[in-house]
Amino acid sequence: MTLKIAVLPGDGVGPEVTAVAIKVLRAACTSHELHFTEGLIGGAAIHATGQALPDVTRQLALESNAVLFGAVGLPEFDAQPPARRPEAGLLGLRKALGLWANLRPARILPGLEEFSPLRPERIAGVDLIVFRELAGGLYYGQPREKAVDSALNTMRYTRHEVERIARLAFKAAQGRRKKVTSVDKANVLECSGLWREVVTDVAREFPDVKLEHALVDSCAMQLVTDPQRFDVLLTENMFGDILSDEASVLAGSIGMLPSASLGEGPALYEPVHGSAPDIAGQGKANPAGAIGSAAMMLRFSFSLSREADAIERALEKAITSGVRTPDLRGTATTSEVGDAVIRELARGSRE
Ligand code: IPM
Ligand code: MG
Repeated sequence: MTLKIAVLPGDGVGPEVTAVAIKVLRAACTSHELHFTEGLIGGAAIHATGQALPDVTRQLALESNAVLFGAVGLPEFDAQPPARRPEAGLLGLRKALGLWANLRPARILPGLEEFSPLRPERIAGVDLIVFRELAGGLYYGQPREKAVDSALNTMRYTRHEVERIARLAFKAAQGRRKKVTSVDKANVLECSGLWREVVTDVAREFPDVKLEHALVDSCAMQLVTDPQRFDVLLTENMFGDILSDEASVLAGSIGMLPSASLGEGPALYEPVHGSAPDIAGQGKANPAGAIGSAAMMLRFSFSLSREADAIERALEKAITSGVRTPDLRGTATTSEVGDAVIRELARGSRE
């Protein structure tokens, strides 16, 4: 099989972690032809072209089979309005690729409990996944405007938008612990009222999955008081943005976590962490999130689940054996972690 992968490293630590993910992909997929083509996005693209998402990058992504994404965001753009910031590149790409489902698994690796901000007995065994709706809600709602003394954003959801992400979440739950927690603010928002109705309807198609509804504030609290109770968390765009960051630090370091964004066309895979410009270029970034995202790419875009499993196992072994970056109080560099994963891959294939 020939896999055409668009690589968009972006800003900050994005280039270092994607470079490692590419090496790991090459090591894991020796029987397939991998074609990587790089494009500019985010602050790097604004500096080079004036646009956060240049047309050539959009085209490159649309013509690929999958997109491997690094991170966007640079401090020199902090004073700019949203449309002129590096983040507009990612938001534009989500729109262009029709990405509507963002999957963010958060799992604590055995032995890493001490790195979690929660007590070990509270975090042990946590294994949850956030299904975040990615194409609707406040992020894209029209009208939107900013005047001098007032500003406006619009939250809007359609039945169709809620249905498709809910179905995906319930299907995933069937292959897991069969529990969906749907998060909303139905005591205040009309959008959440619709969300709850539609999710309840979809749940009838999946009688083997248990559905519970949680209000977003209470869910945020339970994520830190009792995270073991969650399996699949299903929520709208903005709540999902916030809760997935909260969930990600539970696992010890935000650097550990991968994500997949799925939709109509090529899917996009990116670590959950951001561009971290303060540590960029120093080999300190944890590549685990990027490597895990590469594994998700093999699984979801190319149905190569054997190779995806092998990468995830090798990554887990490398990290639990102590090859760790400074976010996990280790001394390994970004590329040393990648090399350890590749060694474990080789060892795994010999066993
Ligand atoms: C994320 C990020 C993005 C978002 C930013 C960079 C636009 O925080 O992927 O969670 O808010 O969706
Ligand atoms: Mg976010």
